[in-house]
Amino acid sequence: MDYKHYIAERLKIDGVSVKEIEEDLAVPPDSSMGDYALPCFKFAKVLRKSPVAIAEELKTIFPVGGEIQEVSAVNGYLNFKIDKQKLAQDVLERILNERENYGAGDEGKGKTVCIDYSSVNIAKPFHIGHLSTTVLGGALYRIFNFLGYKAVGINHLGDYGTQFGKLICAYKHWGNREEVEKGGIHAINDLYVKFNNEATEEMEREAREYFRLIESGDKEANALFEWFKELTLAYVKTIYGKLHIQFDSYAGERFYTDKMQPVIDELNEKGLLKESEGARIVDLEAFHMPPCLILRSDGASLYATRDLAAAEYRKKTYDFHKCLYVVAYQQNLHFKQVFKVLELMGKAWAKDLVHVAYGMVSLEDGAMSTRKGKVVWLEDVINKCVEKAYTVIDEKNPALENKADVAEKVGVGAVVFGALYNNKIKDIVFSYDKALSFEGETSVYVQYTCARARSVLEKAAAEGYDKTQAEAVEPCASEAELVKAISVFPETVKAAAENYEPSYIARFAVDAAQKFNKFYIDCKILQAEEKERAFRLRLTEAALVALTNALTLLGIGVPEKM
Ligand code: ARG
Repeated sequence: MDYKHYIAERLKIDGVSVKEIEEDLAVPPDSSMGDYALPCFKFAKVLRKSPVAIAEELKTIFPVGGEIQEVSAVNGYLNFKIDKQKLAQDVLERILNERENYGAGDEGKGKTVCIDYSSVNIAKPFHIGHLSTTVLGGALYRIFNFLGYKAVGINHLGDYGTQFGKLICAYKHWGNREEVEKGGIHAINDLYVKFNNEATEEMEREAREYFRLIESGDKEANALFEWFKELTLAYVKTIYGKLHIQFDSYAGERFYTDKMQPVIDELNEKGLLKESEGARIVDLEAFHMPPCLILRSDGASLYATRDLAAAEYRKKTYDFHKCLYVVAYQQNLHFKQVFKVLELMGKAWAKDLVHVAYGMVSLEDGAMSTRKGKVVWLEDVINKCVEKAYTVIDEKNPALENKADVAEKVGVGAVVFGALYNNKIKDIVFSYDKALSFEGETSVYVQYTCARARSVLEKAAAEGYDKTQAEAVEPCASEAELVKAISVFPETVKAAAENYEPSYIARFAVDAAQKFNKFYIDCKILQAEEKERAFRLRLTEAALVALTNALTLLGIGVPEKM
């Protein structure tokens, strides 16, 4: 039940739309005053009345009844109390009917959302800095699909640039096939690091020549490049597997090699291309930005040139409703420039391009150095977290079956949740111990809650309790709180999509888990009277459904037992 909508539709305020009212309705932290509250301060101007008077007046005209038990006006707020018994009945019925579709929607029907995320660089380490883009993008991908959109996951590979000339040169001098075959991405990275540390001027010259050979289609150079690319992709795909990440396209920067010229021509025709010290630029001074570099003086294209071509291609290919770029805030300027250039080219759809920027992730021990060769590989962070998870689980429940499987779900979940729990723009310091704490605001806490709920349900089933009868019960405070907490899942998913903020769902999960545990402690479930027991079992099951759906959208597995 979307109560905000329900209330907004029944509240008629001149000159204010239902949607606006819906957005203004808030859930007060303390529900003793009401379950929803509408601050009336905003309407004072339009209605030329004081907020207190507005609240009083609205109170008298609001049709109490149905789902709304009581309306009160307090200090310029209009407070609504929901009929808790009715709410509980509606919410449980809905969740237990919809199950894994609880929270899904169809507002995205017929609309495509392109999501550019993870976007790894070939032959470079897949490091902790790629965690956020990968899991944020992955979560948004699932969230949009859940809401009926067609999400297109795009891995805009970094597979273009002079570094590949360097790599080939390093390989030719120092590498051999078996070692690279065996060492994969690590061996490739070692060669690249060695080049940066030790290359002579002669080798630098050779490297430029190799790059030129790749560009001009030389067979051997391209075969080597393709090989490095294959090894990198094989490697990152194992990590994507662990993180439940998928893509529909791996069209990287190279893919746009032959798609840049038309864009450059168009810029030229539209009089946007200027010469500056031999280079071609789009002047953005009027918008208080440095110029967007399109071609270097030697004629080489740039990162931005390829992004212009990519945006054009995506619009043509997918006719997107939105195209998201899940990329660190360090690239704020880059995307502002690219979007502005497209706007200046007269692309009406430039307004549908969104840079979904996020903050940095570092480790508690400060080990996030990108200096030569010293990077923290994401794989190592995941493995370490899974190992630690194993120890934690083993301590807590030594008799548990499938410990390795549970540790995998808990460990990977902790890494993912660590990146998704906070507002995405915040810088995060990841701590293994905090991430794996059963007491904190963590994924393991939520997972454990799910296992607890499942175990109650299994016991009930074993004892043959009937939980199907849905007789109305007046919920106690902690039951009502839990009902309310899980009832907001659908609107939480919508808000997460609207704001590109999977953290809303992570926060929902922690809140609902906390409410479940309070209910679990306050109320006897299996020992309750028959009518109460049936209600509590249904509530337990509904909470499990909501929590499972939340974790699944985030890409976190739910162990059956813990
Ligand atoms: N590979 C780039 C990097 O690691 C990110 C690419 C993001 N996507 C884009 N269309 N520019 O910085």
